[in-house]
Amino acid sequence: MARVAAAIFDAYGTLLDVHSAMARHAARLGPEWPRISQDWRSKQLEYTWVRSLAGRHRDFSELTDEALRFTAARHGIRDPELLQEIGRAYRALDAYPEVVDTLARLRRQGIARAILSNGTPAMLAEGVAAAGIADLLDDVLSVEAIGVFKPHAAVYRLACDRFGVAAEELAFLSSNAWDAFGAQAFGFRVFWVNRAGQPDEYGLRGPDLPNRARELADLTELPDLLA
Ligand code: LAC
Repeated sequence: MARVAAAIFDAYGTLLDVHSAMARHAARLGPEWPRISQDWRSKQLEYTWVRSLAGRHRDFSELTDEALRFTAARHGIRDPELLQEIGRAYRALDAYPEVVDTLARLRRQGIARAILSNGTPAMLAEGVAAAGIADLLDDVLSVEAIGVFKPHAAVYRLACDRFGVAAEELAFLSSNAWDAFGAQAFGFRVFWVNRAGQPDEYGLRGPDLPNRARELADLTELPDLLA
């Protein structure tokens, strides 16, 4: 297998633990917090798809807030201060435990590393700084450059343009099955980082074709796989 020019990472859910924001406020949210956090994430993503299809873009920071307000209302959370703190925590999420080491190993192997995310440039800059990975990345690419969300092909093209290579020369990593599917359709060499051990979606585990997505439990194996 030819060596890739760069490894392109989804940010939220792949490098950054989106549930760490509510986890920090678990005591105030109560035992239902994992379901509330999941609802927030689902609603946030739904808003991105609907906005892209309707041609009514609004940035990921605003949609994250809108989704939080809706989720809070649905779950009867009425403490505005708590919501503000959760919103702030989302700007400084934890990285998953193996992320720093994986990025550092890839750097030693001479493989470029970049984020390609729905996030706004500002929230991504805050996020990578808080997670301690800013220095380990060559670039952070945001959909805000084009005003449409994943899985639109124009988003994935941003990575090809940045590195000046064809899609098959880039490894793409996402924990989101729908994002892995979009990236596979675009032609990247896809790794589905199935952190939650979800069942197959979009036929990602489908027939063993040359561009089939490879499934990983986390990022630990990645440097060896790209060596
Ligand atoms: C991102 C979302 C999809 O970072 O997780 O693009």
